[in-house]
Formats: sequence, structure tokens, C-alpha cells
Amino acid sequence: MGGNLSGQEWYDRNAEWYDELHGYYLDYPKIAGLMASRLPRGAKVLDAACGTASLSIELAKRGFKVTAFDLNESMMRVAKRKVSEAGVHVDLRKGDMTTDCFGSFDAVTCLFNAVCHLSPRQLQPALGNFSSQLSKGGLLFFDAFNADYFRLHAKKGRFIDCAHQSGDNFFVRFNDNKYDPGARVLHVNEEVYIQSIYWEKLHESRESYDMQLYSKPQLDSMLEKAGLRVLENFGNTLNLKPFLGDESLFIVTLCEKA
Ligand SMILES: C[S@@+](CC[C@H](N)C(=O)[O-])C[C@H]1O[C@@H](n2cnc3c(N)ncnc32)[C@H](O)[C@@H]1O
Repeated sequence: MGGNLSGQEWYDRNAEWYDELHGYYLDYPKIAGLMASRLPRGAKVLDAACGTASLSIELAKRGFKVTAFDLNESMMRVAKRKVSEAGVHVDLRKGDMTTDCFGSFDAVTCLFNAVCHLSPRQLQPALGNFSSQLSKGGLLFFDAFNADYFRLHAKKGRFIDCAHQSGDNFFVRFNDNKYDPGARVLHVNEEVYIQSIYWEKLHESRESYDMQLYSKPQLDSMLEKAGLRVLENFGNTLNLKPFLGDESLFIVTLCEKA
């Protein structure tokens, strides 16, 4: 783990740009729609490690009673602003998913690799916390980069991870990652450049942090220990295509409290 898993410095420095740099990896309305197809309107949902609250807002728009928390204050600041601009109610809290509980819920969501900030020793208690906050039959929906995909297909050398224009700004990110298949740790080295179309430099950062990846058998066994039964797996959070083993970049898991 090397003590560099939390990624908190990244979030401190890049929170304002997080949505532009990550947003297109997930379809938040689609994920909220999946939850709405499984839960009654008014159900209580906990959005764990909510980041800038993109999913929390979509859930609240569909009539769920949403509590959302994150460890990072910069991300929470952006989340508060977005929730207020969206005109929805989300009970936003600061918290740590490895230690904190917020009540009893019909579902817990934890999206976009948030669990990859946790070592296996931290993830097991976090899953236990999620499970203890769910009523019987309650749902947990989360994703993680698939260790088996990276074992076979990890990129070598520098590549473009993000390149797009939004309004008057260009967003470019390069990655040069190294994957350690033994430890299942992805060492991320990235460069972020944000510039206006008028050539004004708005933001530049170089970041290095680690991500803990998980295999499906490993996750399934941890979920079972936490009293959670897998209902369905998907291969990504963009179009919720089926999970195809080591060909899927993500392991997206929908499970229920047994
Ligand atoms: C990649 S972001 C995902 C945010 C959001 N779920 C989304 O879909 O955009 C990961 C988030 O996990 C948060 N995080 C990391 N470790 C955490 C912990 N132990 N407890 C709560 N949040 C944590 C980070 O601060 C960050 O906001």
C-alpha cells in the first residue's frame, strides 16, 4: 500500500476540476435509474465517499432521501455548492467509510473506485459498516478497478487519459501508470493541464498516488464475510454492460444484505 492510497492530496488540489476530469467515466443518471428500478420512491440511500455529489444529486432528483459523506473537505465544498445549485436536499456529512456509520438505509452506493483508496484490511471493515447500516434485503452498489483486467491489459508508457473541451476550457490529462500484479497496486503518475481556449493557463498539477485493485473472487469473499450476497455484476458504470471477467475494466457489484 505504501501509505499513498488515500489520494487526499489529489482531491485537495483538484476538487474544483474533478467533474471535468472524471465525469465521463460514469453515467450518474443511469446509475440512479438502476437504483430507482430496484427501490421504492422515498427510500433512504447513503452515498458513501460521495465526492462532489454527482450521484447524490441524481438520487435526490428521483425522490430518494439521500445522506452523503466524504472524507475530503475540498470535495465536500464542491458537493455543497452543487447540491444547492441543483435545488435538491442531500444531508451532507464529513466521514470516513472505514469507521463511520450514519443510520439505517435501504441502499448504500459507493462509486467510482472509492474503495480502491482502501487496502484489503480497510475495505473489510468498510464493507462491514455498509452492511450494518442496511436493513435486511437492503442494497449495496459499488465499483472497483478489476485486478484481473490490469494483470493482462495494464497500459505501458504514457497515454492520454482525458482530453476534451468544456465551455472556454481545455482539459488534458496524461497518465503513466505502473501496475504491481503481486500487490494488486496501481501506481498512478499523472499530469493535469487545464487551459482556456485563449491560452491562459488555469491549472497544472503532477500527481502520484496508489490505488488498491481487487479481483472478483477476492471481493466476493469479502462481501460474503460482511453478510452481503451478490445479485448482479456489470463491467462498467458508463453503460452497465455485463461483467466479462478479465476483459472488464471495472467490477461493478450490486449486492443485498443477506
Ligand atoms: C474517485 S472519488 C469518487 C467520488 C464519487 N463517489 C463519484 O462517483 O464521483 C473517491 C472519493 O473517495 C473519497 N474517500 C477516500 N477515502 C475515503 C474514506 N476512507 N472515507 C470516505 N471517503 C473517502 C475521496 O475523498 C474521494 O472523494
